[in-house]
Amino acid sequence: MKIVEATDYKDMSRKAANVISAQVILFPRSVLGLATGSTPLGIYRQLIDWYRKGDVDFSGVSSVNLDEYCKLSPENPQSYHYYMKENFFRHININPKKTFVPNGLAEDIDAECRRYDKLIGDLGGIDLQLLGLGNTGHIGFNEPDESFDKTTHQVALKQKTISDNSRFFKSIDEVPKFAVTMGIKAIMQAKKILLVVSGDKKSEILEKTLYGPVTPAVPASILQLHPNVTVVADRSAMKAVHEKHPAKGAAL
Ligand code: GLP
Repeated sequence: MKIVEATDYKDMSRKAANVISAQVILFPRSVLGLATGSTPLGIYRQLIDWYRKGDVDFSGVSSVNLDEYCKLSPENPQSYHYYMKENFFRHININPKKTFVPNGLAEDIDAECRRYDKLIGDLGGIDLQLLGLGNTGHIGFNEPDESFDKTTHQVALKQKTISDNSRFFKSIDEVPKFAVTMGIKAIMQAKKILLVVSGDKKSEILEKTLYGPVTPAVPASILQLHPNVTVVADRSAMKAVHEKHPAKGAAL
C-alpha cells in the first residue's frame, strides 16, 4: 500500500486527480470505477479543469459507479446518477453511453445486481477504482459486518450512514434506507485502487483501515490485502496514524 500525505483537501484533490489523469493519459480506454460523497468533489473539479485545458481526454474512457440509492429517480438531485452527471460527466467528453451507475429503481433488484456484475465483467473489469471512506469504514455502501465475498447487492444502510448522509437531504426521513452497491469482491478485483480521505473526523477510521485487523467490522480494512492501493489522505485525516504509529508516520 502506498500512502501519500497531502497538506489539505485541495492538495489531496490535486494529487488524486493526478493519479486518475495519469491513468487516462497512459491508458485512454481505461475503465474507471467512480465514487460519490463530498470527498471526490475536488477531484472531479480538478479533472474538469485539466480537461478544459486540453490536458486529459475522456473520449475513450468507460466508467462504472460504486453505488446508488434505492427508489430515487436519476432526476432526483440526491441520486448518484444526478451527482455524477452534474459534478463530472456533463463537463467532460466522456461518452454518456459508456457511463454506468446501478439502477436503484429496478423492479427486480437481484436481476439488476447480476446485470451490473456482468457489465463490469464485459468491460474487462475495473482498471482504477476511486474510493471514499465512510465514517463506519464503509466503501461503496458495503457496511460493517457484511461478508467480504459479496458481489453487487442490496444493502440496508446503517443508522450512522443515514444520519451522515442526511446532510444532503432536506430531512433525515428523506434519506433512502436501502442502496445497491458494488460488493467488496468486485472492488478487490479492480487492478488499482485509489482511496481518498480528508478531515479529522475520518482520522480514527483511517487508522483502523490502514493498520487495524482485516475484519468485516471495518470493511475498508480489506484493502490491506489488495496488491495495488494508493491512499491519498490529508494531514488532518492522518492525525491518528501519526499518533499511534509515529515510526510509520515519520517515514511518510
Ligand atoms: C457515501 C458513499 C460512499 C462514500 C461515503 C463517504 O456513503 N456511498 O461511497 O465514500 O459516502 O462520503 P464523504 O466523502 O461525503 O464523507
